Amino acid sequence: MNLILLGAPGAGKGTQAEVICRELNIPTISTGNMLRAAVKAGTEYGLKAKAAMDAGDLVSDDIVIGILKDRIKEPDAQNGFILDGFPRTVPQAEALDAMGVKIDKVIEIHVPDEKIQQRLSGRRVCLDCGATYHVDFKPSKTEGVCDVCGKQLVIRKDDEPETVKSRLKTYHEQTAPLKGYYEAQGKLVTVEGQEEVADTSRLTLEALNA
Ligand code: AP5
Ligand code: MG
Repeated sequence: MNLILLGAPGAGKGTQAEVICRELNIPTISTGNMLRAAVKAGTEYGLKAKAAMDAGDLVSDDIVIGILKDRIKEPDAQNGFILDGFPRTVPQAEALDAMGVKIDKVIEIHVPDEKIQQRLSGRRVCLDCGATYHVDFKPSKTEGVCDVCGKQLVIRKDDEPETVKSRLKTYHEQTAPLKGYYEAQGKLVTVEGQEEVADTSRLTLEALNA
């Protein structure tokens, strides 16, 4: 099964990707996590991506389409995958169609903008394995330490309130049109993000099996 998770920054795509990954045993492909790893490693495209990411803008379609194309060729992606944060523009969705990738379902996690700021200010992430936590809503077992790999948790640079505003603006202008794109293909299912992570997870699994 090939799935897309769509939603505003902080809607819970990464969190729900972990749930689906456990349920279906298919890998999550997060372009955001891959770009952050490239920035950390100082690779050529990492250097190009950094300025856009820090400003809350999108990285160029060429770069992300290239990353995605290589990643879906990997052996672990041959039985299906969850795309978290890709596509994010209509040209990226068209590129996916042009690659011949068949998408089974697009799950949109809908959370109003007013709630996003609160979620992102409490988010902590593991830069090593990409796991996501929240100081109130999804705390790690030991404060500041990743449950999965034991590395240190950090605050993402683009989670500062001003940058979050830019990311939301970018989302509404460039990514939200994808809802219409996939609705027209009959693939869009919307999940309303809930106050509790577990409640959203239950709705996501229902949407998966619907
Ligand atoms: P990316 O890393 O994809 O960031 P994003 O889409 O802005 O999304 P987030 O990771 O912020 O949110 P999420 O929906 O995963 O939420 P999470 O589960 O963590 O991209 C970063 C940057 O890379 C982009 O800005 C862009 O520059 C670039 N980029 C990436 N892909 C690109 C592409 N395709 N094209 C161009 N540029 C690209 O949840 C958020 C918080 O809320 C967490 O703390 C979580 O624990 C908590 N939470 C989750 N669910 C709940 C709940 N139900 N109740 C309470 N709290 C909850
Ligand atoms: Mg994420």
